Amino acid sequence: MEWARAHMPVLRRIQARFEKEQPFRGIAIGMCMHLEMKTAVLGQTLKAGGATVAITGSNPLSTQDDVAAALAASGAYVYAWHRVNAQEHHENLLKVLGHNPGLIIDDGGELSVAVHTERQQLIPEIIGACEETTTGVHRYRALEKDGLLKYPVIAVNDAYTKFLFDSQHGTGQSALEGVMRATNMLIAGKTVVVGGFGWVGRGIALRAKGLGAKVVITEVNPVRALEAVMDGYSVMSMTEAAKVGDIFITATGCNQIITSEHFRVMKDGAVLANSGHYDVEVDVKSLRRDAVSTRTARQSVEEFTMKDGRKLFLLAEGRLVNLAAADGHPAEVMDLTFADQALCAEYLLKNKGKLQPKVYGVPTEIDQATAALWLEANNIHIDSLSPEQTKYLGSWQ
Ligand SMILES: NC(=O)c1ccc[n+]([C@@H]2O[C@H](COP(=O)([O-])OP(=O)(O)OC[C@H]3O[C@@H](n4cnc5c(N)ncnc54)[C@H](O)[C@@H]3O)[C@@H](O)[C@H]2O)c1
Repeated sequence: MEWARAHMPVLRRIQARFEKEQPFRGIAIGMCMHLEMKTAVLGQTLKAGGATVAITGSNPLSTQDDVAAALAASGAYVYAWHRVNAQEHHENLLKVLGHNPGLIIDDGGELSVAVHTERQQLIPEIIGACEETTTGVHRYRALEKDGLLKYPVIAVNDAYTKFLFDSQHGTGQSALEGVMRATNMLIAGKTVVVGGFGWVGRGIALRAKGLGAKVVITEVNPVRALEAVMDGYSVMSMTEAAKVGDIFITATGCNQIITSEHFRVMKDGAVLANSGHYDVEVDVKSLRRDAVSTRTARQSVEEFTMKDGRKLFLLAEGRLVNLAAADGHPAEVMDLTFADQALCAEYLLKNKGKLQPKVYGVPTEIDQATAALWLEANNIHIDSLSPEQTKYLGSWQ
């Protein structure tokens, strides 16, 4: 945690202000996030601002027990351990809600779905929620569309200072790191198939290309597919890509990206990994059914022997490979994302009672403040508009 903090100068600056101003005094903040070192620094920052922090992990494999223990020792209420099962995870969500949170920081919408379905009595006291990831934003928007959302939500995921850096550069680097740590394979010369060319997919594609891979993109959105073509990648359907790929990494947020139809035609030795939020992108159930035997090949690598003798290798059980087989995003990018989280939580509190039960984007001033703090911390100076320039840009003549 000290290592992460040393690489998170923006959060350190915010923490120094929070210590003085105590914006969260008397408020419990319920968090459901990947519980590793950077998240712990966010938890400590909120606590320094006066909050009671109660947290659970958002994935059974991403919780790091040493970090969970250290965060608990620093005074947060921690309900998380590595390899939690589905029922324990559910109970932990309810334990976090047992602290009557005034604010929620969610990663995947899990705490709020639990509030809306099982703990509606908490709703009057909940000021709002911040959501970390694309999949969670989809779930919150679906609640809003059905007229069921009961408090304001800020889609922190949609901040420029999040998706341009965390989703793209953070996941790009750490997903490849997860694959490399798990397999110790050379990426150069391999064909890496990336499912989805969104913010995460393009980051993974860029890093794979930089390591010398031939990169193939699969997409359902023609504009994104066109972008991928013009960025120099091969684009094809998964049916075609399945036959040529050595390493597959999904990042669509959708399910059933790689299924039996694809397992049947894959090369012997193909490696399957996922970097999307849930373990539904590689159809693991069908893979288990199709295989004649399985065994653990290495830590985070499961070998599936198919009827014809081919072996396919699944990484991290099809869960987020960058968090389950590596340490997640580098601290420098999480510094930006978690600065957005801390500032958005503060914004919800300052605007208590003024916001509707809707999904809001991140206020531009917060995006700009986070970027400005990062530049300042890294001693990078930029220009500012002169009065003449402002006048010029605002004039139609
Ligand atoms: N591993 C991490 O640390 C991490 C970080 C950020 C986001 N995420 C998760 O990664 C996923 C993608 O996030 P994003 O921000 O890139 O989303 P995005 O919406 O920008 O991109 C997803 C892309 O996948 C494409 N797609 C959707 N369904 C598809 C299908 N069936 N076949 C092929 N392509 C398909 C979409 O057209 C889109 O271009 C989400 O689940 C998100 O929560 C993970």
